[in-house]
This record gives sequence, C-alpha cells and structure tokens, in this order.
Amino acid sequence: MKVLILTEKPFAAEAVKSIREVIEASGMEPVILEKYTEKAQALDAVKEVEAIIIRSDTVDAEWLDAAKKLKIVVRAGAGYDNVDLDAATARKVVVMNTPGQNSNAVAELALGLMVYAARNFYDGSSGTELLGKKLGIHAYGNVGRNVARIAKGFGMEIYAYDAYCPAEAMEKDGVRPLASVEELYATCQYVSVHIPATDETKNSINYALLSKMPKKAVLINTARKEVINETELAKWMDERSDVKYLTDILPKNHEEMLEKFPKRYFSTPKKMGAQTAEANNNAGIAAANQIVDYLLNGNTKFQVNL
Ligand code: 3PG
Repeated sequence: MKVLILTEKPFAAEAVKSIREVIEASGMEPVILEKYTEKAQALDAVKEVEAIIIRSDTVDAEWLDAAKKLKIVVRAGAGYDNVDLDAATARKVVVMNTPGQNSNAVAELALGLMVYAARNFYDGSSGTELLGKKLGIHAYGNVGRNVARIAKGFGMEIYAYDAYCPAEAMEKDGVRPLASVEELYATCQYVSVHIPATDETKNSINYALLSKMPKKAVLINTARKEVINETELAKWMDERSDVKYLTDILPKNHEEMLEKFPKRYFSTPKKMGAQTAEANNNAGIAAANQIVDYLLNGNTKFQVNL
C-alpha cells in the first residue's frame, strides 16, 4: 500500500525522514509531493495511493474523486477546516487529525507575538512588559493550555473563556475562568485567539466584541483568519489608535492594514505557528502511525468524520 505525503508547505527534512521510516517499517511505500504549486499536481499524485498525510492542503470533492483507492487522510495538525468532511464520509474515506502534536509551537509563537507587540515591533522606542498584564485565552484547548503554561513564566494574570471546557480544568492550571467571551475581551489587555473555524465561530470576533477591549489592547491571532470579521477589525483599529493586531494568518485586507497601521499591525507572510522541526516531527510521525494503525488494525481513534 502507498502512503502519500502531500504538503504544499513542506515539513522539516528530518521530519520527512522519520515519517518515511514509520511507513517503511510497516511494509508500506512512502510517496512524497512537497511544495506543489498547482492543484493538478495534487490531483495526479493522489490517484494511486491508499493513504495521505496533509497539512493545510485543501481536500475537496474533486480531490477525493481523483483519489480512487483512498481509505484514509490524516491532517498532520489540529484544524481540519481545510477538509470537506461530508465529501470524505460520502466516499467512505476516514479523516483524522493529530491533536496536540504541534500546540507548543503555536503557543510559543503567540507569546513571541505578544513580546513583539509590547516592544513596539522592535522599533527602538521604549516599550512595555508582559509582567502583571492581563491575558485572555480565547478557547482553552491544547494550544490555549500551552499559552497559559508559558504566560505564567512571564508573570501574566491569566484568564480564559471556553464554552466546552470545565472551569475546574482552568483553575487547576492557575487560570481564572470567565463566564462569557464578552467578559474575556472586556477584562484583558492581551487576548490570544485559539478557536477553530466553524460555522459558529466564523466572523465571531467582530466590532462589538473588540470594542469591549481595554486601553492599549493587543489581539493575537494564531488560529484562523475566518474567525475574525476583518472589515470590522479595520474599523476598530481606525477608531482606536491605542490598539494592535498581530496575526499568523495573512488577512484578506493585508495591504490595507499594513498601509493604515504600520506600527500596530503585523502578519507573518505564511502561517508558521506549527512550522518547527519539533512540531513537524511530532505531527508527521503521529499521522504516519495513525495511518499504519488504521490500515493494519482498524484503529479509528482520532477520526473526525463518522
Ligand atoms: C493546525 O491547525 O494544526 C495549525 O494551524 C498548523 O497548520 P499547518 O500544518 O498548515 O502549519
């Protein structure tokens, strides 16, 4: 059986080596397509394989129709909003993710962006410190928990809101649970976003919510651009010269934001939260092991479609 590693944004070379080893040790054959630029290349590569490892690569019905032998696709990472789950289910293709495997890398970047904001984008002017500042963690999942762990070291006062996480789990970590998302944004100078992009969350971070943020507010987004109402974000930043937005996901209105708010807006050129050797290794090896365990033993742990 063939397992394709299909990554427009490639893993670190050492991670690819480890993934190959796991696949080969199981008696399967690894096939690699990295840094592809056209969808046609992906459509061609998926034809002859039973399993595929992807990252943020888009998986739609056309892609699944081309993959005639496909049994399983594993998203090496957390968010699977890039996969058409209904189309996969209709074609009896199992979809999995590898939760938690890259979350420390994303959390480290979130804190790095906070420091970058506090120090005025390292422009030489006198900045501020994170010590004693209020941090709001918007969703207390794997990344949120790592953000809390690291922010504790900075001496921040940590709050979180997560409708699906019990308050006790936050309190155990020394994090103060808040009852609503509005309260989180109203309380915290720094807010770090860690919600997935779903029908419920898309555009949910809007003008009304942002307007609640205190003076010198800093919004950090290492999650998804879809969860932000980008037009309303620009309006908020237009009206509030004290606020900053730093993101790991290039917004649609990037040029406009850069032009209007050069000292208060920053985006990485390409999502790089999970782009570390360690995270690539963890997520890639987990994906390969999950594929082997499913194809050889039928283990469906981590399946996200039914
Ligand atoms: C994730 O959902 O795991 C992260 O956003 C990382 O995505 P990437 O694999 O495209 O870097």
